[in-house]
Amino acid sequence: MAEESQKWVLMVTAQTPTNIAVIKYWGKRDENLILAINDSISVTLDPAHLCTTTTVAVSPAFNQDRMWLNGKEISLSGGRYQNCLREIRARANDVEDEKRGIKIVKKDWENLHVHIASYNNFPTAAGLASSAAGFACLVYSLAKLMNVQEDNGKLSAIARQGSGSACRSLYGGFVKWVMGKEENGSDSVAVQLVDEKHWDELVIIIAVVSSRQMKQVAPQMLETVETSALIDTGKGSSTKRISYEEAIQNRDFPTFAQLTCADSNQFHAVCMDTSPPIFYMNDTSHRVIGCVEKWNRSEGTPQVAYTSDAGPNAVLIARNRKAATLMLQRLLFHFPPNSDTDLNSYVIGDKSILKDAG
Ligand code: DP6
Repeated sequence: MAEESQKWVLMVTAQTPTNIAVIKYWGKRDENLILAINDSISVTLDPAHLCTTTTVAVSPAFNQDRMWLNGKEISLSGGRYQNCLREIRARANDVEDEKRGIKIVKKDWENLHVHIASYNNFPTAAGLASSAAGFACLVYSLAKLMNVQEDNGKLSAIARQGSGSACRSLYGGFVKWVMGKEENGSDSVAVQLVDEKHWDELVIIIAVVSSRQMKQVAPQMLETVETSALIDTGKGSSTKRISYEEAIQNRDFPTFAQLTCADSNQFHAVCMDTSPPIFYMNDTSHRVIGCVEKWNRSEGTPQVAYTSDAGPNAVLIARNRKAATLMLQRLLFHFPPNSDTDLNSYVIGDKSILKDAG
């Protein structure tokens, strides 16, 4: 290390989009390693609208690891952050910046501290999977800084230990988190089903019903697993998953829409079946679903699929730009700006986006 100067700082910045689950993950078989009880599938969103940007810096002048989220310092003491930092540090390699005369050798990383600054360009924890983009970006940027030589699949297994859904944000397009079988989680990784170009007619509209911060989902997920009679641990099982993956491969919108809406409805039914019941959606979310269902029925074939994660916002996936425009017109008619509904804005973007994180 260049002891002669304690002043240097090395920095890396990365940007990672969030993802929205179309087949939801809900329930863990290992809380610490974050191992799911089912496979899940998501679509990666457009980083122009929904992404995390993270800058990680290392300097011999830093005396502890620190992190700021949207400008506010947060604690890194939690197991999730510690697991990600430990796993990345364990894979760190030599780094050299010849121009500036900086050389870090592998074993130096044990004693060097990092500073992390992360920004979301969307409401944090409002059911828009901020932890997914956040941990994916954290792991990706630290891996770049420390010259970690793992592929995105291996990095996804580290991001997963920050937040389960984060593992899917390492890829663009449609992504599957394979739950895996190994006790140490080595096979619980994300794989890209199709890239962002495969089905690029799809357009996503996010109807932002509320940007209020939601509670952490982990304790609620645990309560569901412990108390719900409806939870289907066989959700990842063959028939449904295969037809879903085929629908994506074949760009079969009617099957895709039917299975996406059904999975979202089942997820919210399972949440309500938890003791005490969990209500993520509100009246406005329900009205948005009603609006989509009515239009799909009147058209005779689905034009739009809907899904909601752990929050009231509705994610609408339109089969093409025309359907997205017509959907938006309908939403604006039913939820006019400044009306007394709490539907306050729309975010529109093409389906996906980044080939890989970063
Ligand atoms: C409803 O990944 O946020 O969005 O693993 O405890 O961090 P932790 O949970 P998280 O849960 C996401 C749940 C979901 C469905 C999904 O994204 O698959």
